[in-house]
Amino acid sequence: MFPYLFLLISLTFINSMMVPLPVSNYPKTPVYNGHLADPFAWEYNGSYYMIGTGSDQGQFFPTLISNDAEHWQFYGYVMIPRTNTNLTDYWAPEVAVHENLFYLYYSGGIGDKLHRLRVATSTNPLGPYRDDGAQDLTDITKLQFAIDPHAFRDVDGKWYLFYSRDFLDTNDGYRVGTGIVIDILENMTKLGGNERVVLRAKHDWQRFAKDRYMPQYNGTWDWYTLEGAATWMQDGRYYCFYSGGRWEDETYGVDYGVSSNVLGPYVEDSDTQARITHSINGIIIGPGHNSIILGPDQYTRIVYHALNNDRTMRSPYISQLDWSQVSPSSSPTTTTSSVNDLHHEQGLIRIVIYFLVYMFSYSWFFIM
Ligand SMILES: *[C@@H]1O[C@H](CO)[C@@H](O)[C@H](O)[C@H]1NC(C)=O
Ligand SMILES: *[C@@H]1O[C@H](CO)[C@@H](O)[C@H](O)[C@H]1NC(C)=O
Ligand SMILES: *[C@@H]1O[C@H](CO)[C@@H](O)[C@H](O)[C@H]1NC(C)=O
Ligand SMILES: *[C@@H]1O[C@H](CO)[C@@H](O)[C@H](O)[C@H]1NC(C)=O
Repeated sequence: MFPYLFLLISLTFINSMMVPLPVSNYPKTPVYNGHLADPFAWEYNGSYYMIGTGSDQGQFFPTLISNDAEHWQFYGYVMIPRTNTNLTDYWAPEVAVHENLFYLYYSGGIGDKLHRLRVATSTNPLGPYRDDGAQDLTDITKLQFAIDPHAFRDVDGKWYLFYSRDFLDTNDGYRVGTGIVIDILENMTKLGGNERVVLRAKHDWQRFAKDRYMPQYNGTWDWYTLEGAATWMQDGRYYCFYSGGRWEDETYGVDYGVSSNVLGPYVEDSDTQARITHSINGIIIGPGHNSIILGPDQYTRIVYHALNNDRTMRSPYISQLDWSQVSPSSSPTTTTSSVNDLHHEQGLIRIVIYFLVYMFSYSWFFIM
């Protein structure tokens, strides 16, 4: 009896996986009424911080602080930009802490072109962050557009950087546009130089614009965009949240891919619209570019920006992010080949577990 009970419990565990649920409750007001786009929220030593795109009088990156991850206060602009540079636009900052130093990753460009990844540092979570690095993290002569850096520390302590870049090919059925890649961080200021694709566009809802003229690539394409990677570990799996569509309008929304390895492959099963957030008439416009934090109550929260009614400003919102246990074999999202890969892998794990449990049950039987 007992061995069978044990077997049953093991099988139930192996058969199910967590999925993040669509945001069910959009707050009526943002947590901060000013412009703070691409919000990245993080916790350090019991305090919560939020940083995002925005500037005021030559100072960059508005930052908020909070004690409870619910009520936020404006602190100020925390990055002092470099002076001997032609760069004018700084986007999508994120902070990573390593050995008591705070690393602020961001992209710098001229308008919406020539964006490269850079990193500034500070000994204080609230800065000021200075960028003394001689070199960009990405090589602008080889990669003309890199944005939205997202540093991620794996369970073994190794650091990785997710970011977005442009693709002009349609290999493997992917669409032309901006997609998400990952590279190893050799140290906190140097990329390995061997990026891998995490997620690329393959759905209509991910379209940024029809017939988009891209002078920097000398061509016009129906352009698709996946950006703003935010990777979160839940029950041993890696969930790479991303934003698809166009940030300036109601097509923007958040979806995710899932993997059992930080380097992928990531499986993404959205279909006609973004599954985690998307615009809802009269409720929210263009919710996206999210980050995720664990509140003091141990609930995960999704932090994202949305457009104001006249679409002139993006402010940060926070909603609870719920998870649900599902059985992959009975879920409706099992048709793509990549999901089959995941099932295949789970199948192998299951066989090994069956075998171990079988052995264990037998030895238990003999001991009894
Ligand atoms: C952490 O927070 C405590 C209490 O607020 C404070 O005394 C301490 O200096 C902080 N430590 C660091 C490293 O910031
Ligand atoms: C700024 O741009 C000009 C012209 O493109 C170039 O000659 C110069 O080296 C650039 N300066 C820096 C600091 O990159
Ligand atoms: C990272 O490695 C590069 C090249 O090896 C070196 O120049 C740089 O100082 C290192 N940065 C850190 C933070 O250790
Ligand atoms: C740009 O594309 C057009 C049409 O495909 C081609 O004729 C032209 O040579 C291209 N120019 C450059 C600078 O690549």
